[in-house]
Amino acid sequence: MNDGIFISFEGIDGAGKSTHIQSLAKAFEAAGRVVTCSREPGGTDLAERLRALVLNEDMDAMTEALLVFASRRDHLQRCIEPALQRGEVVLCDRFTDATFAYQGGGRGFDWETLAWLERLVQMRDGPAGPVLLEPALTIWFDLDPAVAAQRLQGARAPDKFESESLGFFTKVRQAYLRRHSNAPHRFAQIDAAQSRQAVWSDVLAAVRDRAWLP
Ligand code: TMP
Repeated sequence: MNDGIFISFEGIDGAGKSTHIQSLAKAFEAAGRVVTCSREPGGTDLAERLRALVLNEDMDAMTEALLVFASRRDHLQRCIEPALQRGEVVLCDRFTDATFAYQGGGRGFDWETLAWLERLVQMRDGPAGPVLLEPALTIWFDLDPAVAAQRLQGARAPDKFESESLGFFTKVRQAYLRRHSNAPHRFAQIDAAQSRQAVWSDVLAAVRDRAWLP
């Protein structure tokens, strides 16, 4: 059986992840892989209910962080880990980097507390000791917040985060950069200001570099 592959997709709102996630799913399926596409917050019935709260209700940064980690716990247990154990490719629209970016960067919530919650929720026993369950690859669609704001203009009614200021998204982007510099091997940073075709070539290249697609 194939080994499971866990890939996450990150970026500020408006960076344009969604179409590329669908295209990558098709590319893996064409190569004979079973793909589970999911998202965070969300991905299970319970986590989707928590998502609706996080995206629509006013709350402080700690409550937000606890709810996204609660939804992640359920998502890992009921969806991501079983799919990986079945040898599937899991494509997840956002994961823990988004918590560091939005709650840590955007809201200014304590980075160390987030790191502690990350360990609490994601540590697993491996053959050589405890390991952090995290994506093997994170495709980061990096975009200037001003360009992202232009792209979001006129789109569907914005949720709580999409309505945030340019200053908020500048901090979110800086936090993504910090996560990237803490684990450069895990990230593929893609210039999301390029044409859709050029972005797609970079997405494919990141996956082919790891020999996951021909
Ligand atoms: P989406 O619109 O890309 O599906 O993402 C949902 C929103 O939730 C997005 O604005 C980022 C935010 N978010 C957090 O604030 N913390 C998190 O941990 C995650 C996964 C998402």
